[in-house]
Amino acid sequence: MIKRYRLGNPIKTYATVMDIPVEKETLPDWTIDKESKTLKRTLSKEAIVYGLGETLRGINKRGWTYRSFCSDDSQHMEDKKSLYAAQNFFIIDDEKPVGYYWDTPESVEFDIGCTDIDTFIIKHQELDVDIYVCIADTKKEIVKEFRKLIGLSFIPPKWAFGYGQSRWSYFTADEVRDLVAKYEEHDIPIDSVYLDIDYMDRYKDFTINEKDFPNFNDFVKEMKEKGVHLVPIIDAGVKVEEGYDVYEEGVKNGFFCKKEDGSNLVAAVWPGRAMFPDFLNEEARKWFGDKYKILLDAGIEGFWNDMNEPAIFYTEDHLKEVFEEIEKYKGKNLDIDSFFKFKGIVGDIDNNPEDFKRFFHEYEGKRIRHDKVHNLFGYNMTKSAGEAFKRLSPDKRILMFSRSSFIGMHRYGGIWTGDNKSWWSHLLLSIKQMPALNMCGFLYSGCDLGGFGADTTEDLMLRWLEAGIFNPLYRNHSAMGTRRQELYTFKRVEDFKNIVDLRYAFIPYIYSEFMKAALNGEMYFMPLSFEYSDDRSKETEDQLLVGESIMIAPVYEQNATGRFVYLPEDMKMVRFRSLDDYDEEELTKGDHYVKVGLNELVVFIRPGHVLPIGPKAKNVDDIDYSKIKYLTYKAEASDYELYNDDGLTRIQ
Ligand code: GLC
Repeated sequence: MIKRYRLGNPIKTYATVMDIPVEKETLPDWTIDKESKTLKRTLSKEAIVYGLGETLRGINKRGWTYRSFCSDDSQHMEDKKSLYAAQNFFIIDDEKPVGYYWDTPESVEFDIGCTDIDTFIIKHQELDVDIYVCIADTKKEIVKEFRKLIGLSFIPPKWAFGYGQSRWSYFTADEVRDLVAKYEEHDIPIDSVYLDIDYMDRYKDFTINEKDFPNFNDFVKEMKEKGVHLVPIIDAGVKVEEGYDVYEEGVKNGFFCKKEDGSNLVAAVWPGRAMFPDFLNEEARKWFGDKYKILLDAGIEGFWNDMNEPAIFYTEDHLKEVFEEIEKYKGKNLDIDSFFKFKGIVGDIDNNPEDFKRFFHEYEGKRIRHDKVHNLFGYNMTKSAGEAFKRLSPDKRILMFSRSSFIGMHRYGGIWTGDNKSWWSHLLLSIKQMPALNMCGFLYSGCDLGGFGADTTEDLMLRWLEAGIFNPLYRNHSAMGTRRQELYTFKRVEDFKNIVDLRYAFIPYIYSEFMKAALNGEMYFMPLSFEYSDDRSKETEDQLLVGESIMIAPVYEQNATGRFVYLPEDMKMVRFRSLDDYDEEELTKGDHYVKVGLNELVVFIRPGHVLPIGPKAKNVDDIDYSKIKYLTYKAEASDYELYNDDGLTRIQ
């Protein structure tokens, strides 16, 4: 059951798809203080809070403050409050579990036992919100109720479950050819290569750098014949350049975001001076979406949308102010106060909160200042693409995932979790993030495997490929200037090959469980406590249930040769050294120290369940379903219902 309560006069977000009448009485269990724009609710000592999608810290969100404000911040440190998303759904699991969806584009602070360990405090800027309360007996059912409210999750083509190789950037078509040849040579399966910003002509959306990627359409075809899909990036900012059609059309039709005086906002991102399409304006959204046709016509079948919080290096107006300010410091003795002020003037230039107040959107017939609807920007960029794909490719699925997101966007695309680092702590974080993303409808998701920023190492890369082996989005991506992390660059290539072979062997299961979750509004990754009610399961944050059959307990510590694993019931452990070399062992409920060599992968099959294992494959298309084996524990192979389809026909 879902109830809806309203405070103030919230701006429509289109996050939900059901029309639920607003209750007359006030929201139960919370005290509302209109003056401080704050809501409070007591948490018992045992209460656990789940959810909030893409955020930092644990599966249990207690003990920290999270701010729903889509932020371009590549430093995913423990002290941060926001990442790239605003996904305001959470479950308070106290005496009885209750789910809440806080539907507002406002930046809201969720202080979950941070200021006061026993109190959940929600602080608004405005107190304009629709609060949906999801009531059911279990956490799983609460999520299902919520997912009915927000509509079906995005379903990508099946090839998007294969291994993807990415780098900022592959600079030429030949570099990509060479990469694909190396994967072939080492017999490592691969389905996609990602094109970062350098495939474009000077970072102009929907253009091709003809010099380095000549005859692009032929190149796309050539790669596809090798079973490789090229997936280009699209950025939110449109380069300001006379003669560039996207820019000129946008200006002519008034589709860019405007300042108070009606002139277009000029902000800088990768292409230098750029303008932002007003994705909240339906017409502009349609216009921008139709631009994807250029690349669809070139044979492209997938995209990633980036810099759509939006990321702003600087606005032209603010830059002017900065230069004026700095001038005042010339020749001065910079003391403790003035030095830090001086440093801040330049240091705070990017993504400056004041810049988000300089421009406006035409939204639902009203002019709204950006900061009031900031969290809807990336969502509507991806909606622009998603709506266009339905028009331009009505029968075939197109891959789409975005950096910034808001609930509702899950109907149009998945997400990746942005610029993590090649740190062991970020490997662990990537495990903890998955269930919360799933709760919010973001099923097709994953992190940059191996870590984006900083240099990776051979052991970290391998452990990350193992830990993420069930992530729907399985993409290795890294930043410019960091150590190369294409798998063939490492010494023990064989170990990497074995792991990626296993990934492909699991795809029949991954796809089957993903699709069931997507079609039934369920979770694909779950914390143990969503299935088991014992105290240990509630505390376990470094193991997950994946689909109906298995539990994973990845190794995420440097130099570790094993780890403790908690089994909430008897399970069968399968230890893979490679696809053809594995053994099975029955383990009893309780704690076990499990040795896991760097080149090994362990999974745990739940009693009464089955894990299908496919044969060796070159890519997703090559998976021979007639050769599937079934690993079972206290079950028959026939107990498992394997979902499959052509992997391409559009479902929603
Ligand atoms: C952003 C993205 C990253 C990309 C880079 C260059 O930092 O998050 O994935 O590689 O921009 O486009």
